[in-house]
Amino acid sequence: MNYINPSPIKASITAVGAYVPEERLTNADLETMVETNDDWIVARTGISERRILKDPTKGSSYMAIKAAQDLINKRNLDPVEIDAVIVATITPDMNVAATAAFVASEIGATNAFAYDLQAACSGFLYGMSNASSMIASGRYQKVLLIGSDKMSSIIDYSDRTTCIIFGDGAGAVLFEGSDSGYGWEDEYLRSDGSGRMFLNIKAGGSLFPTSKETLEGGMHSLYQDGKTVFKYAVSEMTNAVEQIIQRNKIDPENISYLVPHQANKRIIDAIAKRIGLADEKVMSNIEYFGNTTAATLPLLLKDYESKLSPGDQLVFAAFGGGFTWGAAYLTWAY
Ligand code: UT7
Repeated sequence: MNYINPSPIKASITAVGAYVPEERLTNADLETMVETNDDWIVARTGISERRILKDPTKGSSYMAIKAAQDLINKRNLDPVEIDAVIVATITPDMNVAATAAFVASEIGATNAFAYDLQAACSGFLYGMSNASSMIASGRYQKVLLIGSDKMSSIIDYSDRTTCIIFGDGAGAVLFEGSDSGYGWEDEYLRSDGSGRMFLNIKAGGSLFPTSKETLEGGMHSLYQDGKTVFKYAVSEMTNAVEQIIQRNKIDPENISYLVPHQANKRIIDAIAKRIGLADEKVMSNIEYFGNTTAATLPLLLKDYESKLSPGDQLVFAAFGGGFTWGAAYLTWAY
């Protein structure tokens, strides 16, 4: 079913914040850890380095709080005005006890309700759907959406097929009603549970509770069948973007930026080529941050914020574990 916005309230992104840890994990570092090399990693993924939150006493909430505080300071926002805090993450501080609740308390969002959203690499995209709907419903005025993942906490650093891709980071956006006329325009979101065998952490949930066997079997680290995920990611993200372009009658020439999940530079290039977008119209920071899962989209917005103007047409796209995927169309409001 097509998304139809029946609401007169336009939900807009009105502020962006971000945080990445100082510590860099370069391709040269990885060469000392697994059998790989800089040429292979750059050619096959486009990644040169990632950021890693080394401190074992800090979880995803630490980065989420920093990103939220960056946004709050820049926007000069009183946190008591925030109605809801959503944290998209696959690396919550704890499996039970929403990370978002802790983040909301720590930033002083004492009037907010808070919850985590788990849709892997599509978490932030799905979260934008949630947040914009809450604003468009008229029930809430300020929704803080954060994507934060400490991927280093679930990566097996002896598995060269996963450890080269992922990094840590967090980004945040504020959704508010806007009379600018610009904001959330359309979304096309999908999922397919048959994909869960190709990208997962098998144990630690209700299907395979933590046991001696799951620990010994290495079932608590991220597993992916990279080739299969790659193929699905290219075809489904391209299809989702095409759906958004067609039903909103967008001339690809008029797209200001494609804002794609940063999983692999070759995936991003393949989508841009199929849509017919020039490189300069594709947001990218994978070279420096790698794949930060739920944080890739807001980190891109933070990096390109100074280049954006009101009315700019942004098309988002993401694909991740589940499988989950989709695309969305947003006109920039400031
Ligand atoms: O964000 C969530 C969704 N995730 C994704 O979208 C990730 C999608 N997948 C990918 O990005 C890619 O599949 C990878 C980067 C994970 C792997 O790249 P690939 O081009 O698909 O490589 P491959 O798995 O087909 O492996 C090609 C060769 C193999 O050697 P042989 O069998 O041809 O001799 C691998 O053993 O490259 C080898 N290889 C490596 N060599 C050096 C695999 N990993 C490495 C490595 N360094 N790190």
